Amino acid sequence: EEQKIWKTAFGLFPYKGINLIRGVHQVEHLESLETFEIRDDDIFAVTYPRSGTTWIQNILSLLYHGDQMREGCNKKSIQQLVPWFEENIRQVDYNNMPSPRTFASHLHLSSIPQGLREKGKVVYIARNPKDVAVSLFHLHNFMKALESEPDFDTFLIQFLRGNVLGGSWFDHVTDWYAQKDEFDTLSLTYEDMIKDTRCAVVRISNFLGKNLDDKTIDTIADKSSFKNMKEDPQAKNDVQHPAFFKQSGSLIRKGKVGDWKTTFTVAQSEMFDKIYMEKMKDLPLEFDWEL
Ligand code: A3P
Repeated sequence: EEQKIWKTAFGLFPYKGINLIRGVHQVEHLESLETFEIRDDDIFAVTYPRSGTTWIQNILSLLYHGDQMREGCNKKSIQQLVPWFEENIRQVDYNNMPSPRTFASHLHLSSIPQGLREKGKVVYIARNPKDVAVSLFHLHNFMKALESEPDFDTFLIQFLRGNVLGGSWFDHVTDWYAQKDEFDTLSLTYEDMIKDTRCAVVRISNFLGKNLDDKTIDTIADKSSFKNMKEDPQAKNDVQHPAFFKQSGSLIRKGKVGDWKTTFTVAQSEMFDKIYMEKMKDLPLEFDWEL
């Protein structure tokens, strides 16, 4: 069934600030999500694509669902435990999900459930956009439903115009930061999570009101390390859904800060910096471009 949907679905369509995949995302369904009823203890991890979504899904699944759900014969993938809010591939009725519900979403803040402004919590993760562009370039060439683009220069222009999966990185991040105080929110960067994963786990668990002992924090930080996630089939969407992806590639790919340097030319980087300075001039947000 999944194979059929994805083979016939091709290309992107714009939806309220982001681009989504035709045939996978339905406008009617997306519109209904804006009024989705939020509970006090709902948690949404919100990201622009390729900014650490799988990573935060894994951390949330460890924080909320522990090992009993992740191991043994009834084990569930992190995509089942922390589902993609707007994709809902398994057609689960989220209204019947037990609390606390944990979701991941790429939706622009104008189209996530507006009830989140009153109730629930949001963890927003942003990543430096040069690494995002390279990572998204690989995703565009790895997902069957997206048109592949072998030339990075062409892809980069489309990324800067917002004509890629997820739409404009600039709009997603700047709109979020402009309005984040209207939500109960924790904002993190991918780079901070890389620099000190344990500290990020502590910040996330404190924000979510969890009082965890040092040993549990250590275990969660260790199980969400890049190396361990790369080896964990439950963490890998491409392993869970082989029909969606091509043979070569991986969603959990390199996990580095500054990998853009292997792909950007000096000229591309300079052009990017110029556009970045212009678009981000009102937002005092600092990224680590390399470590
Ligand atoms: P790269 O392609 O640069 O390696 P998302 O899950 O939002 O699509 O983000 C994917 C990016 O996060 C990929 O970046 C992937 O390798 C990286 N990633 C996934 N798990 C990670 C982890 N545990 N630690 C660091 N990076 C991780």
